Parts: sequence; C-alpha cells; structure tokens
Amino acid sequence: MLKPNEPVRVVLLTGGSSGIGAATARLLAEAGMTVYAGSRRGSIEKAVPGIVPVRLDVNDEDSCRSAVAEILAAEGHLDAVVCNAGNGIFGPVEGATDEELRYQFETCVFGSMNTIRACLPAMRAQGHGRIVTITSVMAILQLPYQGFYSAAKAALLSLSESLSMELRGSGIQCCSVLPGDVATGFTAARKFTAASQEPDCPYHWQENLAQIEQDERGGMKPEVIGRAILRQLQRRKMAVRVIPRADYRLVGLAVRLLPEGWKLSLLKRLYHG
Ligand SMILES: NC(=O)c1ccc[n+]([C@@H]2O[C@H](COP(=O)([O-])OP(=O)(O)OC[C@H]3O[C@@H](n4cnc5c(N)ncnc54)[C@H](OP(=O)(O)O)[C@@H]3O)[C@@H](O)[C@H]2O)c1
Repeated sequence: MLKPNEPVRVVLLTGGSSGIGAATARLLAEAGMTVYAGSRRGSIEKAVPGIVPVRLDVNDEDSCRSAVAEILAAEGHLDAVVCNAGNGIFGPVEGATDEELRYQFETCVFGSMNTIRACLPAMRAQGHGRIVTITSVMAILQLPYQGFYSAAKAALLSLSESLSMELRGSGIQCCSVLPGDVATGFTAARKFTAASQEPDCPYHWQENLAQIEQDERGGMKPEVIGRAILRQLQRRKMAVRVIPRADYRLVGLAVRLLPEGWKLSLLKRLYHG
C-alpha cells in the first residue's frame, strides 16, 4: 500500500475519449502514471502505453463502482480521480424544461458525484487520494444562454470546495480546475433547448452563439489544461482552485472585484445578451 504523499501512480479519469480528457490521459501516461480512461464509448483514438480505456457511464452509479472495482483488482490502489466527463446545453432560461435542466446537471454534477462516491471508500481505506474536478470559468462567470451550464459547474465547484474542507486530515485532497475556452469536441456536441429552436423564440441568441463557438474553436489546446492537472497531481499539496492561463486568471480576479451589476451589464454587452 502507498503511503500518503507518495507519487500518484494510478488514476481514474472520466471523459477520457475526447478533448481535455484524452489530452490529459496522454500527458499523465507520459509522466509514468497508469490512467484508466473512462467514457461511454470506452475507447481512445489510438493505443498509448499507460492508458487503459474503460467503458464507463458516469450517470450510472453501478458503472462507476464497477470501474473502480476493476482498477482495484488490477492495481490494488487508486491514487487519484479526475472528474472530467461533461456536456453542455445552450438556450434562454425562459422556456427551458426540467428535463433539459436535468440533462445538464446529470453528467456534470450527479455524474461527478457518482464518480467521487465510488472512489472515496478505497481512498479512505488506503489513507490517501486526490480528487480533481473539471469545472469551468463559467462556474464563476455567468453568460447569457449558458445559465444551465454555469449553474451546473458552479454547483460542482461548490461541492468540490466543501468536500475539500470536509476531507481535511483524511489524506484525501480536492482540487477544481476551471478551464476557459478550449478547442475540443465540446462545441460540436453542444445541445440546444427546444424553446430556443421555436420560430417565435423572443430571444436573439444566434450572434451570441456564433461568438461563443468562435471563442471555443480558437481556444486553448486541451494540453494546456492537461498540464495544469498533471502539475496538481505532482504537487505535494494540491491547490483548491486552479484557473489555467494568466488571462483567464485575470478574468477570475475581475469577476471577484467588480460590483455584480457592473459585471452583468458588461458581460451582456460583450456577449450580445
Ligand atoms: N471545451 C471547453 O471550452 C471547456 C471549457 C471549460 C470546461 N470544460 C469542461 O471540460 C470537460 C471536458 O470537456 P471537453 O471540452 O474535452 O469536451 P469533449 O471533447 O466533448 O469531451 C467530453 C468527454 O466526456 C465524456 N462523457 C460525456 N458524457 C459522459 C458520461 N455520461 N459518462 C462518461 N463519459 C462521458 C465523452 O465521452 P463519451 O461520449 O465517449 O462518453 C468525452 O470523452 C467537461 O466537463 C467540460 O464541461 C470544457
């Protein structure tokens, strides 16, 4: 059994089949870690030594427990989990259904909680572990028509930070990474609320969406986020909240300092609200 603060060797990473997850899995494997890369498709683009693809649906608690059992049977320990699986739904808050809101929370919030709950007993028993959640700068910054996504990421950030305090003294650490725009499959996979597609929808969100998609397509390489995650896994003590890249950290600071009313007016103007 590993002692606390020994290097991370075995990692479960969700959403490992694409984008940030795929890039992170490669970087962690290159650093010598064994990465169990979970996703519904259960595959990775091309075989990489150190990456073990696992079929995993974070929305299914049994699926999360089976993945952890498989890792423990093979490795005897699980040093870290990266809760990265996620999706997005776009549309005005008005007219959105409960089902649409649930769709957003299901993977980003409940899915991450299923994953964390599946890992915690083993981490407690071994006396160490690292939990990394991938949230978003949108957890601290609200944009028009992205209310569901922001709310889900803010909920996950909140849970992650409470957990980090609750686990103090257990040998288990928590960190949330808040990426800004990253060029991945996320943009093409985005779903839209039914109300946003109605011909008489009173909101003119098209310009806003075009800007968001342009920002994402021209965004950071997923490796930037992967390197930030790797750095945290290699540190003796993880930071509780990490915003990769200086310009996004500056946005994070501005969000904290600006009066709420000013911030929302500015964002509405910038993002064609
Ligand atoms: N791209 C950005 O600009 C950006 C910015 C901030 C935060 N993020 C966050 O970063 C994370 C990764 O997103 P990405 O940009 O890399 O998007 P992506 O390329 O679309 O990757 C999403 C990953 O999540 C997996 N996934 C989705 N639902 C799942 C489920 N129920 N169970 C297991 N795996 C599931 C997908 O695999 P399968 O389809 O095979 O299941 C895929 O591997 C997300 O949490 C996202 O919210 C992204």
